[in-house]
Amino acid sequence: MKHGAGAFSFGERDLEQIRRTTFVQTVEHHQEIESTNTRAIRWAEDPALALPALVLSDMQTGGRGRGTNRWWSAPGALTFSLILPRITSSDESSWLRISLTAGLAVYDALQQLRPGLQIGLKWPNDVFVQCRKICGILTETSPRAPARLVLGIGLNVNNSLAAAPSAVAATATSLVDVAGYRFDLSVVLTHVLRQLAEQLAALARADTALASRWQELCMLTGHHIQVDAGQRVTVGLCQGIDESGALLVDTPAGRELCRSGVVTTRGQEEPVHRA
Ligand code: BTN
Repeated sequence: MKHGAGAFSFGERDLEQIRRTTFVQTVEHHQEIESTNTRAIRWAEDPALALPALVLSDMQTGGRGRGTNRWWSAPGALTFSLILPRITSSDESSWLRISLTAGLAVYDALQQLRPGLQIGLKWPNDVFVQCRKICGILTETSPRAPARLVLGIGLNVNNSLAAAPSAVAATATSLVDVAGYRFDLSVVLTHVLRQLAEQLAALARADTALASRWQELCMLTGHHIQVDAGQRVTVGLCQGIDESGALLVDTPAGRELCRSGVVTTRGQEEPVHRA
């Protein structure tokens, strides 16, 4: 059990160690901030910024998720955004591949930190543990810095969901809740950053192993799902994720490739997770 400040905040030594031992070149740390992604989008406009740059907060007060979603935070959560050079072409599904690759990085970091966890990727930007959301990923660009990418990650670490609003507590979890002890936030962050460096490099060289892994870890495969993309709702049997990052859904009219939308599962035939 981690009792000290390291379970809830970052100190100068932690930040120095992150700069020394990971691919991060520049770090900005906030004890409290509204949204690390909002700050990173602004900061990305500085052409002199050495990349990757990290915006890190001990406490985020207005975290954003996809669309109009909000990201609940409490002390002990890991909330950060990376500013990166664009690593993929800007085709319409590149953000999907980046989100899925970041999901794989979080998956591998969690396996290292707590071997044996039951982890799955929920297309397109969530990581689940034991059927509950533990991590959300938000990929954005700044219109004024289109050659750069902002990758925001919220990972529930020492923030027990017992203290969360009931709607969040019903569907989410944290590392402390599943492991029963606290983690050092800078150790968790270092694991995630090292995995991100490795997996994003693999994405930049179009390594086909990534697509095999997100297909293997897709927790929606074999489930009847609904993908709501606003004007278009697709209902059918999920067949996983293809190499472009699209979700494959078999409908009575044939196979559909979904590139955006919110997924809900229909029926509760089996728990939605993969070991
Ligand atoms: C989602 O679940 O839709 C994505 C949630 C992403 C939350 C992270 S926390 C750090 C970064 N800053 C934000 O405002 N959002 C992302």
